[in-house]
Parts: sequence; structure tokens; C-alpha cells
Amino acid sequence: MSAPVRLADARHLIDGREVDSVSGRTFATIDPSTGTELARVAFGEAEDVDRAVQSGRRAFQAGSWSRLSPGERAKRMRRLADLIHADADRIGAIESRDTGKPLGQATAEVHVGADFLTYFAGHAELPDGRTYPVDAGYFVYSKREPYGVVGAISPWNYPFLLACWKTAPALAVGNSVVLKMAEQTPLSTSELGRLALEAGIPAGVLNIVHGDGPTTGASLVAHPHVPKLTFTGSTAVGQAILRSAADHVKSVHLELGGKTPNLIFADADIDQAVAGSLFTAFYNTGQICTSGSRLLVERSVADRVIAAFVERAGRIRVGDPAAGGTQLGPLISAEQHARVTGYIAEGLREGATLALGGGRGAVEGSNGYYVEPTIFTGVRPGMRIAQEEIFGPVLSVITFDDEEEALRIANDVMYGLAATVWTTDLRRAFRVAERLEAGIIWTNCPHYLPVNVPYEGHKLSGLGEDLGIEALQTFTHLKTHAINHGGGSMGWA
Ligand code: NAI
Ligand code: MG
Repeated sequence: MSAPVRLADARHLIDGREVDSVSGRTFATIDPSTGTELARVAFGEAEDVDRAVQSGRRAFQAGSWSRLSPGERAKRMRRLADLIHADADRIGAIESRDTGKPLGQATAEVHVGADFLTYFAGHAELPDGRTYPVDAGYFVYSKREPYGVVGAISPWNYPFLLACWKTAPALAVGNSVVLKMAEQTPLSTSELGRLALEAGIPAGVLNIVHGDGPTTGASLVAHPHVPKLTFTGSTAVGQAILRSAADHVKSVHLELGGKTPNLIFADADIDQAVAGSLFTAFYNTGQICTSGSRLLVERSVADRVIAAFVERAGRIRVGDPAAGGTQLGPLISAEQHARVTGYIAEGLREGATLALGGGRGAVEGSNGYYVEPTIFTGVRPGMRIAQEEIFGPVLSVITFDDEEEALRIANDVMYGLAATVWTTDLRRAFRVAERLEAGIIWTNCPHYLPVNVPYEGHKLSGLGEDLGIEALQTFTHLKTHAINHGGGSMGWA
């Protein structure tokens, strides 16, 4: 068990300066591995959000970034990436404390965040328009333009990485950004803000306001001068944002929850399938929107798969995020701990069989928010543990008899984010992918998501394209210009 640690307090970043809230209000961010206060953080209210938005708007209108040459924008974004790589160990240590992620994992994610900036820097210089065949004497072209101020709201499961994921494409095409990070994990984003200034991203272009959802997040969503919103988080909040955005007819990009099916067919390479399924079920303590939280396995291989799976899951090392060799840290918060253990109780109540876990495991006695890898077998598809996003290391195992039944169970949830398939039959891989209701399908490669590959949630899992070249559309709107250069005069004489 680790001793309580304290880190530097965090303030907002508005117009290039670190500032307290106008009200002076602060809140605590907690170290999930000990349950103790890690730092105090400025709590943003409507007035603070307004200052951040106005600062973003001023920068946008002044053109310090939006009209900077694309090559120069790209250069500064690459410089930011370099600064992040150079500082990744320090930022990773902060991230690990604030999130409970194993140290090595947290640091690796900081590097991935930097890679997003490098990749999207290139987007600044991509061609962005079309011309259209029209009448003689006319010329019509369309181009993509930045919206102005993009409001970005992010969750706690990948704080630094998601801060880069959200800001990189928005900045590349010339927007300003106001970032509202999750209240559980604000600290690493403040580091991003500092380095952005150092990299030459002008004051006011990237603003950060800390605080909660109902006050800080909702103020950003409701602000009339934020025409574009990008949100990652729960489906319920995404729906609330969509409703609120109607008042100003805002464009909304949403990446929401999931209940990813992980299908193992009898023809799979079983060893590879078990290893990959363990990873997708439990990585990041199951706190990923695309976690393979439903293991659907063909009946003829079910006993063998489950036995191997339970045996290996029992060997996953849960513990202190700062200790070398730890694979799973705690959950993010006391709330999430209560929620996840509530689902475990619900699974038992619904009659599923607890094949592994259910408690804190080896970290019994710690005040951290630990839950050990937990596996339910004998799960029926209609059970709550098989339908709802648990967001913890809790796996529901369901058996199926044939491909038809597998697809029916896989698709019978409100979510449609991702699906993983294990098979060595290429025909089956294509056939099944055609019919799975999911935005991304991984055959024999869970969570495989290079930065240039796009991604979009189906059903209640999201709205709008993310990553890849598609992100250019998401963070720009269309402007069309028709020119009469000799086509005769138009109108009434
Ligand atoms: P949440 O959706 O409430 O929070 C995500 C972000 O939205 C945070 O920055 C929060 O401050 C903000 N927010 C909350 N209410 C808001 C509002 N009314 N207006 C504007 N912003 C608002 O997620 P929470 O409560 O942290 O986790 C609950 C569940 O949500 C998890 O158990 C999981 O099932 C799901 N979730 C899914 C994520 C994903 O990546 N798809 C990430 C985080 C949570
Ligand atoms: Mg924290």
C-alpha cells in the first residue's frame, strides 16, 4: 500500500494565464489508490467558463491561430508533441496518481497523446475543398472552415490522451478550444496547457476550465458562442448535451458508452483468443468504452475457453499503480467502486454464477477503490450485467450454439460502439462484420486503433466521426462560394 502523496494544485488556463475561479471556489482531486486528497483544483462556474469562451473567441477573431499559415500551425503542434515526449515521465507520474493507472501504462498514454498532435498537425496542410461542374461563366467551390470555439468535454478514463485526441484535430484546422476535463482527473491537462503555450500556441487558443458536469460542463454546453461540442462520456450525459445543444442548434460530436461483445468461435485460435479477450475485458480496470465486457463463446469450446480464461484472469496482478509489475490499478472513484460492486451484487441476485473475483483480492485492507477481475458465467443475455455498461473489471460470459445466435445476442443491446471477433475463417470474419451493429469491428485484434483510422459509434454509442482524416469534417463546417465571372447577369431587369 502506498503512502499518501500530494501534488501541485491546479488552476484554469484562460487567455494564456493560470487563474483561480472568480468565486475562489476549489475542489479536491483524489488519489484512487489511497482515497486521499491529491491536490486542490479551481472549480469553474458560469463566469469562468464565459471568460474562457470569450478568450477563445477573441483569439479566433484576431487570427493569431486561425489565420496563421497552416505550415506554421503544423510546426507548433509538432513542437508541442516533442515537448510532451520529453516530459512524458513526469506527466505520466502525475497521471498515474490522479487516475490509479499503472505508472508505465500512464506514461505510455502520454506518448500516445503526443502522437495525436503529430498526426493531426499534418491535417493543417491537407486540401480541404471541392469545385463543382456548373454552367459556363460560373465557378463554384466549397471549403471547410473552422467553427470558432470548440467546447470539449472529456471523461476520466484516459485524461491526457483524450485531451490530445480532442484538441489536436480541432486545433489543426484553426479552431480555438475550451477544454473541460473530468473532475476526477484534472491534473495532467494542466500540464498540456502549459506546454502548449511553450510550444507557441498563442494565448487564448487552448483554454482549460476545471470543474464538474452539472455546473462547469453544462455552462460550456449552454454557452451561445460555442458552436461545436465534442463529448466523450456516458450516454445519459451525451443525451442531455444533445438536448441542450438544440437551443443554439449546435453541432455535437458524441462518443458514448458501449457493451462490446467479444465473440469466440470454435474455429478461433483459442490461445490467442483467450489472451486477447483477457486484455479487452480487464485492461484499464475495464474502464474503456470499448472494453470487451461480454464474452460470447461457442458452446463446443466454452468449457475449455472458460477454464483457461478464469485461470489466467486469476493471475492478473492488481495493486499499487506505482509498483512495478502491477497490471490493474484501482477504479477511479468511490462512486465508481460503489457502482461496480453494485453490479456484482446485481449479477448474483439475477442468478449468474461467480466464477472468479467479486472482492478486492490481494489488496484487501487498502482504502483504494480496488475490484479484482470478476467473471460471471451462466449469464443470460437479458440480465442487467449483460445489457448495461459496468465500466469495471466485470465480465459476463454467455454461450451460443451457432453464428445466428451469436449475432442475435451481440446486437441485442442499446449500444453499438465496437465488437471483437475471434475466428480463423476469413469468410466468417467478413460475414459477421457485415451484420454486427457496431462502429468498429476487430477481428483477432482487440482495441486496435491507429490514429489514422476513423471511428464512429452506432446506436446509442455516439454521433459523428472521430480520428483519421474524417476528423477534418467533424471539426469544420462547410462554406460554398458561387461566382459569376461572365455567365450573364441574373435577376429581374
Ligand atoms: P459522465 O458522462 O457523467 O462524465 C463525463 C464528463 O462529462 C465529465 O467531464 C463530466 O464532468 C461531464 N459532465 C457530466 N454531466 C454533464 C452535464 N450535464 N453537462 C456537461 N458535462 C457534463 O460520466 P461519469 O459519471 O464520470 O461515469 C459514469 C458512467 O459513464 C461510467 O460508469 C461509464 O459507464 C460511463 N462513462 C463512459 C465513458 C466512455 O468513454 N464512453 C467515459 C466515462 C464514463
Ligand atoms: Mg483523481
